[in-house]
Amino acid sequence: MDLADLPTCTRCTLSLTRQRVVVGSGLESAILMIVGEAPGKSEDEGGAPFIGRSGRLLFQLVHEELGLERGQCFVTNVVKCRPPANRTPRPVEIASCRPWLDEQLARCSPRVILALGNTAAKSVFGFDAGIGLTHGRVVAMGTCRGMATYHPAAALRGGPSVVDVMRSDLRVLKELLSEK
Ligand code: URA
Repeated sequence: MDLADLPTCTRCTLSLTRQRVVVGSGLESAILMIVGEAPGKSEDEGGAPFIGRSGRLLFQLVHEELGLERGQCFVTNVVKCRPPANRTPRPVEIASCRPWLDEQLARCSPRVILALGNTAAKSVFGFDAGIGLTHGRVVAMGTCRGMATYHPAAALRGGPSVVDVMRSDLRVLKELLSEK
């Protein structure tokens, strides 16, 4: 699949309701790839991932704990088009979009993948249990390693205790980034 075709993708019915395909943003050769669930309203309008409230919290934490700026990571979502009313993407939508994510993973070849929330953790790492049990767990994925943490939207809802867990997960991830 050619990523040049992604902005006009019609592989699933989310293409009927989206404003823009949110491909991804950042550095293609990044050592860290961050994968969220799906674009929200701001992202659907703006065409880039995590540019709303969740994104501001996410990149504040990434900056404070990892010392990385947004542009030093590659950021994308499991599903590239906004689900109506921000519902959770359906399995058929996730499956339709998967080849694009696989192509991005192959192109970026990051050292570490960070999945945000249940949908991304399940889809990227195959975790069956919820994020409450799987966050912070380090998994090997071919040449790179992965970890899931809470979605920043959950931290916005859940408050400081969720933010604290995200921070401690990111500290473990920092070790992974610094290992050879
Ligand atoms: N939530 C996500 O999962 N991804 C975005 O890009 C924005 C909000």
